[in-house]
Amino acid sequence: MRVVVTGSEGQLGSDVLELLLSNGIDAEGADLPKLDITDKNACMDFLAQKKPDWVVHCAAYTAVDKAETERELCRAVNSTGTENIVLACKECGAGMIYISTDYVYNEPGEHEIEETAQPSPLNWYGQTKLCGENAVVKNLERYFIVRTSWVFGENGGNFVKTMLKLGREKDEISIVCDQVGSPTYTKDLAKTIFEMLNSDRFGIYHATNSGFCSWYEFACEIFKLSGISVKAIPIPSSEYPAPATRPMNSRLSKKKLLENGFSELPHWQDALKRFLNH
Ligand SMILES: NC(=O)c1ccc[n+]([C@@H]2O[C@H](COP(=O)([O-])OP(=O)(O)OC[C@H]3O[C@@H](n4cnc5c(N)ncnc54)[C@H](OP(=O)(O)O)[C@@H]3O)[C@@H](O)[C@H]2O)c1
Repeated sequence: MRVVVTGSEGQLGSDVLELLLSNGIDAEGADLPKLDITDKNACMDFLAQKKPDWVVHCAAYTAVDKAETERELCRAVNSTGTENIVLACKECGAGMIYISTDYVYNEPGEHEIEETAQPSPLNWYGQTKLCGENAVVKNLERYFIVRTSWVFGENGGNFVKTMLKLGREKDEISIVCDQVGSPTYTKDLAKTIFEMLNSDRFGIYHATNSGFCSWYEFACEIFKLSGISVKAIPIPSSEYPAPATRPMNSRLSKKKLLENGFSELPHWQDALKRFLNH
């Protein structure tokens, strides 16, 4: 099996590529400047030359707040860029795993969201990721769309690294306590993606670490496990105005993932422990 991984310098892409290579898969990474996914001809040429069986599409514009002002760049990467990769996959007959986000939803309440829920993104980043999803569904038959959330990995910035830094610098930190979801470790998600490459149960899936928490609870666990004694103050989202609005409820149901024979991802607290020990 030959696999191309886009965004292979990023948090998830780097772990996916490493996992594939360590399992003897003929895998190649593609990231800026080697491949700019906003360049349609470059995408077509790259995949025509590599002739992969699968493309794991992790490349994305991921700065959720900045996206509200850098709208065109965000759209170019997440919507047009994904469509370019989709059309190049179609041309060379490759299947595609597209990594999407919990930010496609706006599902108030405390219930677990199923993949059949109607997407209704609250922010620009979510809108552009949903456009990417639509390009996949419209053009390909062999695809997985993997909606994940609150990603952390070694290769790049994330909430855990930010809390470690702020926790050491400050005496007290205010953290949002009314947005609930699942932190997700890239090394665990990479294993799910690997399972998908060997499956024909195509479709849209949620894949995150198990268990739910608020950003506040996530931060408290980070401080506890790393022995940081900062005062953490829970605050509602209304007291932490950010350029991009986020959904309160990001409880993604993993029922479909398990019913289709994929492994359950470990609990987020276990994942966090492994990440901090790494
Ligand atoms: N991070 C999260 O919390 C989160 C949550 C839910 C879903 N997701 C999704 O999960 C996937 C992986 O996220 P991640 O956190 O691993 O992202 P990441 O660390 O930001 O990695 C994305 C990679 O894509 C590259 N890239 C950006 N523009 C590109 C272009 N025009 N052509 C080629 N490559 C380009 C980036 O390069 P530069 O660094 O040079 O820009 C980076 O190496 C993304 O699809 C994201 O939308 C992420």
